[in-house]
Amino acid sequence: MKSHTESKTTSYPDIPITKPVFDQAEVDAIQEVLRSGWVVQGPQVARFEQMMAEFTGSRFAVATTSGTTALQLALCAAGIGSGDEVLLPSFTFIATANAVEYTGARPVFVDIDLDTFTMDPSLLEQALARRRSTRCVVPVSLFGLCADMNAINTMAGKHNLTVIEDAACGLSAFRDGHHAGTEALAGCFSFHPRKAVTTGEGGMVITDNAQLADKIRKMRNHGASQIDLERHLNEGGSLLPNYDMLGYNYRMTDIQGALGVVQMGKVRTVLDQRREAAVRYNQLLKDASFLRLPNTPEGMIRAYQSYVCLFGADQFDFGTTEPPDWELIARLNRDRNRMMARLEAEGIAVRQGTHAVHTLGYYRNKYGIAPHDYPNSYIAGRLSITLPLYAGMSEQTQKRVVDALQRLHK
Ligand SMILES: Cc1ncc(COP(=O)(O)O)c(C=O)c1O
Repeated sequence: MKSHTESKTTSYPDIPITKPVFDQAEVDAIQEVLRSGWVVQGPQVARFEQMMAEFTGSRFAVATTSGTTALQLALCAAGIGSGDEVLLPSFTFIATANAVEYTGARPVFVDIDLDTFTMDPSLLEQALARRRSTRCVVPVSLFGLCADMNAINTMAGKHNLTVIEDAACGLSAFRDGHHAGTEALAGCFSFHPRKAVTTGEGGMVITDNAQLADKIRKMRNHGASQIDLERHLNEGGSLLPNYDMLGYNYRMTDIQGALGVVQMGKVRTVLDQRREAAVRYNQLLKDASFLRLPNTPEGMIRAYQSYVCLFGADQFDFGTTEPPDWELIARLNRDRNRMMARLEAEGIAVRQGTHAVHTLGYYRNKYGIAPHDYPNSYIAGRLSITLPLYAGMSEQTQKRVVDALQRLHK
């Protein structure tokens, strides 16, 4: 193992936040694509889509360049645009809100439940009671835990809302037997390297709606009525297809598709190993009262895309309904940040969970939102901490993380 002094001179920590699982199979698959000479969207992307559809139990899967573009296309294809309001959680990766902005619709935030880090359905109900132009809700299945889709769908049904799920972190997360992304009109996945299956960059929309899938397929390809491969294989390939709608170039390459196919081949092993490591953290950290560990509500199966805790659980009651003591939160935030810096200095990569999006400059300034308008998201942004987690992480490495946490938290 590298010494701590050594780790300071390299750009990579000894213990990274996560690690993709690549071996010779990925190298061979990429070489095969290069040898074939067909590197843009083609047979490998089609295979990857088929594997995702089968894995999630959805009828259609359409690959895109990223989770962000998957969301943008799903929203556009569902007819969301200028003049519409879209409800989404205030604690999520900024891309969820950005995708709404790209459509011209207005993102409206709803606070989260600190037990799950996902949208609080009771606050969604309150938001819907106040708003008239809401067309859509984008629940986020965050860190590998499904949003409360049952409650959200019930309210969406009452208010005639379209539901597009941000399942970027949801691969292999289940709610009452339903895979993340399947309880909405469309579910959108990311294959960024922080995810269990990665294609470098990449995304996918899953849906049971044939029309929506067809529209997204066209929109990702400049709005073309026919894909390039079909055109090349068919007679009349010299003629360009028709373009009846405004589209984008959001096509996944076959190099990425081939990566995705190999990654999907080992997805169950990778996910099992991540779950085993997460269960081991639960055990190793059970007496660490300063951390609130990830909670898995009844009926949910967690995928552990990230292992995210709340810092300061021995001093702050995260379950309280009282107005938060903001001074205490500020002090705990400083303590968390100091601990995270010390962990980084020891070669252990940790991260804040994700963004309290309403506090980020663009959204704060454009919509005039105050930090405490969404108190739980603010608290989650200030006090969450993601621990390193990857397939094949050894017990010894996890013990090193836990020992360092115990030593450095004060
Ligand atoms: C919740 C959430 N939504 C959307 C995205 C965007 O995905 P991508 O980075 O593939 O564009 C991410 C990526 O990390 C995410 O975590």
